[in-house]
Amino acid sequence: MGPGIHPHTLPSQPNMKPTTHKLGRDGLYHPNGNLHFFKSQFLTTLPYPSDSYTGKTIIVTGSNTGLGLEAARHFVRLGCSRMILAVRNLSKGLAAKASIERSTGCCSESVISVWELDQCSYASVRSFASRVSAELERLDILLLNAGVCPLAGPWRMVEQDEEAITVNVVSTFLLAVLLFPKLRETARLFHVHPGESGRGTKPGGPTMTVVTSLAHTYTDFYLARSAPEGQLFKTLSCSPDRAEATFDDHTDQYFISKLLEIFVVRALAAQCPVEKTGVTINCVQPGFVKSGLFKFEGAIAVAIGMVMNGLVARSTEVGSRTLVHAASQGGKETHGAYLSDCKVDEPAEIVTGEEGKVLQERVWRELKVKMERIVPGVLKGLEV
Ligand SMILES: NC(=O)c1ccc[n+]([C@@H]2O[C@H](COP(=O)([O-])OP(=O)(O)OC[C@H]3O[C@@H](n4cnc5c(N)ncnc54)[C@H](OP(=O)(O)O)[C@@H]3O)[C@@H](O)[C@H]2O)c1
Repeated sequence: MGPGIHPHTLPSQPNMKPTTHKLGRDGLYHPNGNLHFFKSQFLTTLPYPSDSYTGKTIIVTGSNTGLGLEAARHFVRLGCSRMILAVRNLSKGLAAKASIERSTGCCSESVISVWELDQCSYASVRSFASRVSAELERLDILLLNAGVCPLAGPWRMVEQDEEAITVNVVSTFLLAVLLFPKLRETARLFHVHPGESGRGTKPGGPTMTVVTSLAHTYTDFYLARSAPEGQLFKTLSCSPDRAEATFDDHTDQYFISKLLEIFVVRALAAQCPVEKTGVTINCVQPGFVKSGLFKFEGAIAVAIGMVMNGLVARSTEVGSRTLVHAASQGGKETHGAYLSDCKVDEPAEIVTGEEGKVLQERVWRELKVKMERIVPGVLKGLEV
């Protein structure tokens, strides 16, 4: 399969297995039915975070705005000892720090730090991880929230892949793997007492939470399922066969990136059992939330976006409660889990069905090869 081939133009392949999950593109799919989305948006009350984070050190990526900013605000309000705002634009990060300090009355200058992290650059991911290893004594929560959803404009290649794949998937998990040893060390030094057995089995250990989306249910993963072995990421990033990528091209890519995140969280969790490492790895979908994520272009799209934001979307603060909740659920009950509305939920059948196991294994296998090429030896940090 070469460049120029795209999901919407692919010829049907007779030996390809048909999709086993209900396709979401023409209608919302959820294992519990379409009503789930509307019930979740309109009828669910999400608990206001109230746990204490005293003594904890927390990193939130993409925390200058949106869900990340509101999650960071909750953690600071609830007394975390250190909050690292990992942002790609330092002046926006400093504005976020000032906003959190104002709203929470946090007056200790040393609680919130703004560190640079640009997930469009592997070098930036590596240098952020090195700084964490060198400067942080502990890391209790790693909230991997930064993400993009291009809706218009050219198909942008960043590092080796299309932008959404690089930012949402490759850089997110490269950072996850680079920081895993610090989470593990924190579990060992601060959460497990000498002689205690069953580490990670009681709530409160370090957590790594990836912010995914219900949008993972809207793709049949068609292109990836037909990619030649070893070329999954290359295939996913090949450009549409037209000069300008369309809205559908971009949104498909976002859906795929969110599905990949769920596969990788499950694979990573299976490879690193919480009972052995003390670190809980999970993912969360926050619902449809008002934020700057969807950058609509054109008068009609902007108008539709405003109506959706006004009528259906949760406020950013309400959405952020799901992030805070997931990142606070250390323990085997949520290890490898997909959380929604502050509960463990089921992702799409493409993940949980028979074919999901094969796809998950493949995604993880090819991502591991890619990460090992970017940072030789990086996977050693996952050995249990
Ligand atoms: N909003 C929703 O309805 C919704 C639903 C499901 C899932 N999500 C997920 O929630 C997460 C947060 O999204 P949001 O809605 O809060 O959107 P947002 O307001 O656009 O926030 C996204 C954050 O990610 C950062 N970011 C983007 N590219 C980056 C890069 N290359 N390196 C480092 N940081 C980068 C952004 O920084 P800049 O400000 O510098 O661009 C921003 O801080 C995303 O993973 C998204 O997929 C959102």
